[in-house]
Amino acid sequence: MFIDGGVSKLKKIVMDSKRIVAFTGAGFSAESGISTFRGAGGLWTKYDPSIYAEVNRFREDPSYYWRFFRDERYPVIKRAKPNEGHFALAELEKRGKIYRVITQNIDVLHQLAGSSDVIELHGNTRKIFCLSCEREYSMNEAYSLLKEELPPRCSCGGVLKPGTVLFGEPLPKVALDMAMLATRNCDMFLVLGSSLVVYPAASLPRIAKKSGAILVIINIDPTLLDDMADLVINGGTSKLLSRLI
Ligand code: OAD
Repeated sequence: MFIDGGVSKLKKIVMDSKRIVAFTGAGFSAESGISTFRGAGGLWTKYDPSIYAEVNRFREDPSYYWRFFRDERYPVIKRAKPNEGHFALAELEKRGKIYRVITQNIDVLHQLAGSSDVIELHGNTRKIFCLSCEREYSMNEAYSLLKEELPPRCSCGGVLKPGTVLFGEPLPKVALDMAMLATRNCDMFLVLGSSLVVYPAASLPRIAKKSGAILVIINIDPTLLDDMADLVINGGTSKLLSRLI
């Protein structure tokens, strides 16, 4: 379904819902200037994730990850600001519609826009820590160290590791448990800007649907779960949500 027919249906579903989970992916932050991983111009079309974002590879040689962070991630994440979509979700929370945001994004933009109940399935960029002594560093501190040395090291000599989840690592248990609970208890599950190919995160829309929720998917490209959704809108999330508000 394209945007024009979709917004009025979306509005009706939102009006009828009381416990909405918004589930966001990289496409949701695209209009904040942060590249997606898949789809047109996605990062994984230029970088092989098994080299730049896989935990065993990181243990063998962390400089690949850190080079990718230095050249591709840090410069855009540092200057990114929440877009209209982030503000719209915060507004829907204030109006008592959204009760949880579950995100795969690590950019902390939901919190900056005012969402208070955000479950980060893939960690975030705020925390970077030493693999030897566990000392914590901010993203800016890690970047300063990174400009001196690849990979960046702690004052104790240990290698720094991001607080984001790499492929091959388990998701943070508390976040996953909270996400499962919220998903089972929602009456509407709203997917926003995710290709829905990375598991276990991508299992949540299925679980929501099986638990009786209305499933809505808003994404520019089709996803593998479109067939099970009650409403699919192929469009940009920020424009659509601001029209909804
Ligand atoms: P992807 O990059 O896989 O998918 C983003 C989706 O957003 C694509 O299907 C695009 O069509 C769509 N899109 C782009 N711009 C959009 C816009 N303005 N509005 C709506 N849709 C838009 O991102 P995720 O599904 O979040 O994990 O990826 C999941 C995980 O894979 C990430 O968290 C990351 C990645 O590898 C790890 O690194 C562990």
